[in-house]
Amino acid sequence: MIKIMFVCLGNICRSPMAECVMSHMLKNRGLDSYISVASSATSDEEYGNPIYPPAQRKLREQNIPVLNHRATTLKASDKNVYDYIIGMEDRNVMAIHRIVGDCQSKICRLLDFSSNPRNIADPWWTGNFDVTYSDIVEGCECLIDYIIKNDLNK
Ligand code: 4NP
Repeated sequence: MIKIMFVCLGNICRSPMAECVMSHMLKNRGLDSYISVASSATSDEEYGNPIYPPAQRKLREQNIPVLNHRATTLKASDKNVYDYIIGMEDRNVMAIHRIVGDCQSKICRLLDFSSNPRNIADPWWTGNFDVTYSDIVEGCECLIDYIIKNDLNK
């Protein structure tokens, strides 16, 4: 099983949206018994809270099942469990390195898998859940392609 951990600052907007989108894509493609996905935060600001309601609305609008999620925090020991620890933006990646220490090869941004590597803006501040959603879909599609090519085809 390939294990993915998506990470953002609060674990109520971007990383749980990515977890819901990825879970749905993996089920649709029959890959959910090969690849699993979870999400967590680099801060404990939102610990225990559900997915932010506007993020839930965006997922429902796109017919993506909303998982029964509660915000949780990334732990140092997660580096021993997950194959990919994937932030949404540069600042998440720096914070992930602070939490898990040295495992450079597992850590990057979601859109580093795309042909146009970039940050995914925080909709908590921008209010734009449409751009966040389409960036997440692009990143998840590229990540699945990468894993199929590099991990599953061996
Ligand atoms: P996220 O968005 O990192 O995409 O979950 C945020 C949610 C909450 C806060 C910051 C970012 N906050 O400061 O509470």
